[in-house]
Amino acid sequence: MKKIMFVCLGNICRSPLAHAVFEHIITEQGTEDRYLVDSSGTIGYHRGEPADGRMRETALARGVRIDHRSQQLNARHLREFDLIICMDAQNKSDVLQLAEDDHQLEKIQMLRDYDPQGPGDVPDPYYGGKKGFETVFDIVMRSCQALYRDLQGE
Ligand code: 4NP
Repeated sequence: MKKIMFVCLGNICRSPLAHAVFEHIITEQGTEDRYLVDSSGTIGYHRGEPADGRMRETALARGVRIDHRSQQLNARHLREFDLIICMDAQNKSDVLQLAEDDHQLEKIQMLRDYDPQGPGDVPDPYYGGKKGFETVFDIVMRSCQALYRDLQGE
């Protein structure tokens, strides 16, 4: 069982989407028993809140239901998960600060390192318009599909 934690800043837009998209993929492929998927934020500001309505709407329009409540990433997550997949470079830098040893450092990656269109940040859509959420969906979907193929190939 591979344990995957997706991480962004608030855990209300990007990482709950990646979490739901990856679960959507494994459900479609019938490989749910091989993965445990979760998401969290580097800040606890939105703790307990459902995902942003704009993100949920965009995802649902593409057939992906987001059903998650925001939580903050903690040291236990870094010990227990196999992969910590960050949405942007600031998230990664913040998560690296939490790592207790080299083994944990190696778990910390960027989602777009898997993007067939090239690496970079999943842009924060929080203060932008609807188009930003559509862009985030496209990036997250193609990157999660590539991540899934990579893991299944192992
Ligand atoms: P997320 O988006 O990191 O993709 O969940 C944000 C959520 C909240 C804030 C910023 C970005 N915020 O400033 O509270």
